[in-house]
Amino acid sequence: MPAAKVTVTTLAALKARGEKAVFLTAYDYATAAYADRAGADLILVGDSAAMTMMGLPNTLSIGMTEMLVFARSVSRGVKRGFVIGDLPFLSYQPSDEAAVRSAGAFVGRAGCDAVKCEGGRPVVRRVRAMVSAGIAVMGHLGLTPQSLAQLGGYRVQGRSLDAARRLADDAQALEEAGAFAILIEAVPAETAAFVREQITIPLYGIGAGPQVDGQLVISHDLLGNFVGDIAPRFVKRYAEVGQAIERAFRAYAEDVRSGQFPGPEHCYSIDPANEAEIRFARLNGAHV
Ligand code: KIV
Repeated sequence: MPAAKVTVTTLAALKARGEKAVFLTAYDYATAAYADRAGADLILVGDSAAMTMMGLPNTLSIGMTEMLVFARSVSRGVKRGFVIGDLPFLSYQPSDEAAVRSAGAFVGRAGCDAVKCEGGRPVVRRVRAMVSAGIAVMGHLGLTPQSLAQLGGYRVQGRSLDAARRLADDAQALEEAGAFAILIEAVPAETAAFVREQITIPLYGIGAGPQVDGQLVISHDLLGNFVGDIAPRFVKRYAEVGQAIERAFRAYAEDVRSGQFPGPEHCYSIDPANEAEIRFARLNGAHV
């Protein structure tokens, strides 16, 4: 029997039982299918696709058109996991209507189960509007890459009690607005624990230590196929997929150049009589 689809109820039950949720990013059909088979509970189609998939310097210039292609591909690859589409920059900030339309496209057209948006109190109205439209919304606090310029770069957030209190206040506001969960990024472990104690919905962490309800890692960081020089300290590498890909491509290039590929086992066979006939025609200059 196929495993039951993860829902917001499943996620709340995991938290209630004190079980950690496994959270990964995916941007394409194949990776999504492998993550799902491996038992990931949540799969984020992150706007980090700008950097991991498109080679852009940050997440600001990816738009809805690209995100919906990635999201559709991921949704098709996932049977059990809970798929979250990441609302890209300026797809929800301008108005409640923009937020509902963009979120609606992720769930209605791309098959996502929920959306994620960045920010605390400033986006609470938007969260309420999306929730009122029946859409499940995850908040995102701490290091919010869409506000990179305001934050002064990729910097750890919530390093003082005041900052931790502000994060907790934002988290409460998001919960009150109807968010089903919050993701907190790049904060000290103690800050994440502090925020978690102020809310009842699940708090997931990326670079936020162990005292949260589940862990997110960007799949390219975990697999070792991110092409770029950002290497956050909170990432644990589980494979060297990038090196394996390059090695395979080099071996292929060598085989092509040396004539080792294709070998007889890679060629289509033909009836020997027909083969002989074609060869005879070739050798005798017979053309069509
Ligand atoms: O886009 C993304 O992958 C994200 C994570 C970095 C949290 O939002």
